[in-house]
Amino acid sequence: MKIAIVGTGQVAAALGKGWAARGHMITFASRDPAAERVQALLETAGPNASAARMADAVGRSSVIVLAVPFTAVRERLELAGDVAGKLIIDCTNPIAPGLRPMFDNTTSGAEQIAGWAPRARVVKAFNTTGAENMADPLYNGQAATMFICGDDELGKGATAQLAEELGFEVVDAGALSAARHLENLALLWIHLARVTGLGRDVAFRLMRR
Ligand SMILES: NC(=O)c1ccc[n+]([C@@H]2O[C@H](COP(=O)([O-])OP(=O)(O)OC[C@H]3O[C@@H](n4cnc5c(N)ncnc54)[C@H](OP(=O)(O)O)[C@@H]3O)[C@@H](O)[C@H]2O)c1
Repeated sequence: MKIAIVGTGQVAAALGKGWAARGHMITFASRDPAAERVQALLETAGPNASAARMADAVGRSSVIVLAVPFTAVRERLELAGDVAGKLIIDCTNPIAPGLRPMFDNTTSGAEQIAGWAPRARVVKAFNTTGAENMADPLYNGQAATMFICGDDELGKGATAQLAEELGFEVVDAGALSAARHLENLALLWIHLARVTGLGRDVAFRLMRR
């Protein structure tokens, strides 16, 4: 797939390197594609990765992965050009100070994004675990779970494939409105990792009988 990853931080690096290594064409959309830290990222991501400004990265891709602070998403999308028909994978977490959700339980960050890009196909994924787990989701040979949700079945299928290629077991949590739960689950992961002292080397795994 041709994938624009918006951002060049922890999540962008983990996902971009993983997918580039598996043959996908990755363009990191950066505010400063020539920056030394972006060039350093490209060196570690290999020949399938490049960097560009937002409109160029999106123009050459059919998938857009949002890996920026939630508060930066709207402005990034305004610079994206035409996103009609493209798959937007939303990895962001709208978190208010004090580790609280930014929205009440009548909406979610992902639903806000779908409102800002109504002609795109929005899927929520890669928000309920740490970036280290995106680089390596295996715990003693067992795959961590990646929860996804969205209203577009084809978009969810492509997202599931991308998650499985990284080594996750995928659980489809249903419609995009389930992003409210996924965003709360992210708060639990962060609470466990940071507040209870469990650390970042933890991941959710759904067990089924
Ligand atoms: N870190 C995790 O473990 C984790 C896990 C799950 C979900 N998330 C979510 O994923 C998103 C990215 O997290 P991250 O930890 O990868 O963040 P990060 O390391 O801080 O990187 C964010 C990237 O966003 C870009 N950016 C664009 N506009 C920005 C702005 N106004 N302010 C700051 N950065 C801006 C920057 O790239 P350029 O400077 O190149 O434009 C930057 O490298 C967040 O929404 C976070 O909640 C994070």
